[in-house]
Amino acid sequence: ARHLLGIEHLAPEEILTVLDLADRYVDLNRRTVKRTDALEGMTQINMFFENSTRTQSSFELAGKRLGADVMNMAMQNSSVKKGETLIDTALTLNAMHPDLLVVRHGASGAVDLLAQKVNCAVVNAGDGKHEHPTQALLDALTIRRAKGRLHGLTVAICGDVSHSRVARSNMLLLGKMENHVRLIGPPTLMPPGFGEFGVDIYEDMRAGLKGADVVMMLRLQKERMDGGFIPSEREYFHRYGLDAEKLGFAAPDAIVMHPGPMNRGVEIDGTIADDITRSVIQEQVEMGVAVRMAVMDLLAQNLRAERGRAATENLA
Ligand code: CP
Repeated sequence: ARHLLGIEHLAPEEILTVLDLADRYVDLNRRTVKRTDALEGMTQINMFFENSTRTQSSFELAGKRLGADVMNMAMQNSSVKKGETLIDTALTLNAMHPDLLVVRHGASGAVDLLAQKVNCAVVNAGDGKHEHPTQALLDALTIRRAKGRLHGLTVAICGDVSHSRVARSNMLLLGKMENHVRLIGPPTLMPPGFGEFGVDIYEDMRAGLKGADVVMMLRLQKERMDGGFIPSEREYFHRYGLDAEKLGFAAPDAIVMHPGPMNRGVEIDGTIADDITRSVIQEQVEMGVAVRMAVMDLLAQNLRAERGRAATENLA
């Protein structure tokens, strides 16, 4: 494929191709010299219309380790502030002939729309409540390395499911790889219709965590609750915050995940987040660089092949 816009477009074997290559990049990233030339001569532009710590920095590192010229657009200083639209911004950058655009935007579907207007490969770095495909891929790699497999696991995704692109992408990926997905959260934060994806939905956290192999906590996304019901943090932690007592209902060797940024004391107790015998939160960040290297390497290979075919057709 030309782009990575969502897990919904990926087949199980494509997911495994990304994870297998990412595994090789984990080894490279742990060495003293970390550079390869997979993206040599290519230009990567990162356009983040929403804040990011992990995703933006790991895409930047990934591009640099692959040998690309990487540019971070400072969107807060761009002409978007003067009213320029997303599409006009994309067309302007497209005229500078980038090879890869990495885009985060607050509107669901915005990255798909942008991908239709440009000539390069586009990676969705999170669009509204829709998808965050590289997050689900890095989560999958973390799970596979911790559990030794990526099938037949019971994965509990807990918290603010309704505002979470992470939950949606993970639910799709884990379902494609034949895992049992449980969604746990208050009915006010559970989107209607998710039952159709073959997941089990729980309101009671202890029941939902029972025997789970993986416990994936979600951030309470207050910034997306425009005008809607916002639960009190105390009450929320009491009912849905992961602490030692609630984690006791999961499998004894269950791992704890969180995509970050974390609200300690709201959706997760800080001592659980920091307990390296259970928490793989820092591994998730490490896998993020490797997965993003793998994704951009594979897209660059496809782009080179596509351009090669076009050049051959032009000669014929
Ligand atoms: N998990 C994630 O997307 O984190 P950032 O918002 O910091 O990129």
